[in-house]
Amino acid sequence: MKIIAVYSSKGGVGKTATSVNLAYTAAKTGLRVLLCDMDSQGAASYYYRIKPKKKFNRSRLLKGDFYEFIRGTDFYGLDLLPAHFSFRNLDIAINNGKKEKNRQVLATLLAPLKDEYDCVILDCPPNVTVLSENIITAADCVVVPVVPTTLSLLALEQLLKLLKKVECKKKKVLAFFSMVERRKVMHSSIMKKYHNYPIFMKSYVPFMAEIEKMGIYRRPVGSSPRKSVASQAYQSLWQEIENRRLNR
Ligand SMILES: Nc1ncnc2c1ncn2[C@@H]1O[C@H](COP(=O)(O)OP(=O)(O)OP(=O)(O)O)[C@@H](O)[C@H]1O
Ligand SMILES: [Mg+2]
Repeated sequence: MKIIAVYSSKGGVGKTATSVNLAYTAAKTGLRVLLCDMDSQGAASYYYRIKPKKKFNRSRLLKGDFYEFIRGTDFYGLDLLPAHFSFRNLDIAINNGKKEKNRQVLATLLAPLKDEYDCVILDCPPNVTVLSENIITAADCVVVPVVPTTLSLLALEQLLKLLKKVECKKKKVLAFFSMVERRKVMHSSIMKKYHNYPIFMKSYVPFMAEIEKMGIYRRPVGSSPRKSVASQAYQSLWQEIENRRLNR
C-alpha cells in the first residue's frame, strides 16, 4: 500500500481538486484506492457527495476505530473516508498524546489498511502543524501543487525545511504547477525557470473552467462521458507519479 499526500501549507492551490481527480484516475487503472479527507472543510467528501455518519468524529479516528466509517463512492475501486468537523482540532488532539510517538500517529492508524488498499490518497488541510508532520512522515510521496507565483514557491521551500526537521528525505516530494495560466507573464517565467528542477514533474494542470465546475457537478472530471482535457492532465500527472515514485 502506498500513501500519497497532496499537501501545501498554502491555501487554494488545488490540493483538493488534485486529490479528488488523482484518486479517481488511480482507481480507473484498477488500483484499490482510499481517499482520506483530512481537512475539516470536507471539500473532497463534498465532491464525492458523501457526508460523515453522525457517530464518526476525531476521537474515533484517533482510537483507530474508523474502518466502519469508510464509504464506497459511485466509482469502482474508490472508497472515501469523509472528514468530520471535529478534524479541525486533530493537530491539538495529536499533540496531547505521547510526545515521542507524536509523528507516527497517522502512519500507525493507516497501517492496518495495507491489505485492503493499493493506494491511500490524503487530501490535506493548508497549514503547518503536528498533523502536517504526521502526514509527511506517513506518506511515501508528498505531491505539492504549486501555482506559479512567489508565495506558492515559498510554501514549497517551507515544506522542504519541514521535511528536514522530521528527518524525511527530500526525494519524497514531487511538485507540479497547478492552475497554470500561460498567458500570465509571471506564470510562464516561473515555469521556465523551474521546469528542469528534479523536484518538479513535467506534467502540469492548467487553470480550467471544467475543474472549477466540479463544485457544481460534484464528480471527478474524468467521470464525465465527454472527452476531457482536464482529465488528461490528471492522467498524465498520475502516470508521472507512478513512474517516479510508486513503481519502485
Ligand atoms: N486547475 C484548476 N482550474 C480552475 N480552477 C481550479 C483548478 N484547481 C482548483 N480550482 C478551483 O480553485 C479553488 C481552490 O481549489 P482547491 O479547493 O482544490 O484548493 P485547495 O488547495 O484544496 O484549497 P484549501 O487550501 O482551502 O484546501 C476551487 O474553487 C477549485 O474548484
Ligand atoms: Mg482543500
